Amino acid sequence: MAVSRSGKDESWSGRAAFILAAVGSAVGIGNLVRFPYVAGESGGGLFVIAYLLAVFAIGLPVLMAELFIGRRGGGTPIAAIVRLAKADGASPAWGIMGWIGMLASFGIVTFYSVIAGWLLYYAWVMVGDIAGNIGASGLAGLAAPAFASVGDSTEITGIFGELLSNPGKMILFHGIFIAVSTIIVTRGVKGGIEKAATWLMPVFFFLLVALAVISLTVGDAGAALAFLFQPDFQALARDIADGSILVNAVGQAFFSLSLGSVLMLTYGIYLSRETSIPGAATTVAFADTGVAMIAGLAVFPVVFQFGLEPAGGLGLIFGPLLLAFNQMPFGALFGLAFFIMAVFAALTSAISLFEVPAAWAKGDITLDEATRNKRRLIGTILIGLAIFVIGVFHALSQVPVEAGDNFFNTWQPFGTLPVIGDRTLLDAIDGLTGNVLLPLGGFLAAVFAGYVVTQSASREELGFKQEKHYQRWRFLIRYVCPAVVGLILVYGIAIAPFLN
Ligand code: PFF
Repeated sequence: MAVSRSGKDESWSGRAAFILAAVGSAVGIGNLVRFPYVAGESGGGLFVIAYLLAVFAIGLPVLMAELFIGRRGGGTPIAAIVRLAKADGASPAWGIMGWIGMLASFGIVTFYSVIAGWLLYYAWVMVGDIAGNIGASGLAGLAAPAFASVGDSTEITGIFGELLSNPGKMILFHGIFIAVSTIIVTRGVKGGIEKAATWLMPVFFFLLVALAVISLTVGDAGAALAFLFQPDFQALARDIADGSILVNAVGQAFFSLSLGSVLMLTYGIYLSRETSIPGAATTVAFADTGVAMIAGLAVFPVVFQFGLEPAGGLGLIFGPLLLAFNQMPFGALFGLAFFIMAVFAALTSAISLFEVPAAWAKGDITLDEATRNKRRLIGTILIGLAIFVIGVFHALSQVPVEAGDNFFNTWQPFGTLPVIGDRTLLDAIDGLTGNVLLPLGGFLAAVFAGYVVTQSASREELGFKQEKHYQRWRFLIRYVCPAVVGLILVYGIAIAPFLN
């Protein structure tokens, strides 16, 4: 049965605007810090092949599914699912999928914003550094490396520890970041999210490519390319044997494409019928994967050039990368460009995560437009405040620990929570969203699109030009995606809590 939607929703101004916003959501901290390192450590070129498979065989079909569920259902992310379920004679209890996704989006944005605050702080530190250099030696100061006046390398990486032990600073920069995000989201889909993406993403791409070109030119391109792409059969075999390839490739593809959080479903609500979902989704997947690889080329050549060891996660940015900036000419300028780029990537992702609860607060299309607009405005401000407050808890739980992935493991105001062992609030939310909620949301989305929505409905929404392409999508979404994502879920619930 076709679903009729009454009421008007705001919509993207066109295909290009939607693609920019969706790429803005997909490209984020995940691409800059996680993919390049995991690729280097888990099999190089072989991992890249596994990742491409994960993106195109698992991520892309789910991305198409989320987009068409949102577009066909309309209203809020939850109402869209319930409406489609009812239309196809299924239980409205499917709405739980929307709640799970919304909880995941909200949970992620609370810590995403704190980390974005750190990046913003470093952009600020670089501005101060450059100003100091110019003050000391005029325009020639622009050529100085970053932190030229700071003594040795432990002092430079120690700046991060200082930040982590200073909740006031962290709260300030998290506060600035979330305030800007809130302002953007209150302005709505066209005037806020779309406008932000159209301004920020081109600058992001320009900086990314420029940094990669410079890094490849002045750095050790050979070592970086070997690290990223040289096939390493042994590493791949190890990761297949212990199952971590699943999380590394498929889990990363999910996080990177912003799936399982009903975020892309929400972006689908604003998508016009004229835009072809398969085409747009494929563009988003290519752009996101391309950015992840170029990010590796922007980071590793300079890291290897100065004989530094790559590190995982954020440890890379606040460790070896800072030391590289410290040793290269024009390092402060390079560093400033890097942090501005990272903040822009984080901002377009944070506003997309924020949009999910904001769209829910707006209410369904059964309400009149004036009420919905009012609800959206008030709801967005309240959600922004809630993100800020929870972020303050995250900031308060920071105590510097040695460089590595886990910066959040000392302050434990909530004692020991059963599922999450001895983790803090931030670790708990990170683990719960990444290991449980996102895979669960993705699993449900695949099952919903493959089994609940009728074949004629999904065929019509996706509008593949050739039937065989539709059949391929249907095969992947019915059998391959639920099986693989289901495995990740089991891994996330049963095995991951016992690691580390
Ligand atoms: N895709 C973004 C990144 O790679 O950083 C952020 C993100 C958005 C993660 C939405 C997860 C998510 F559900």
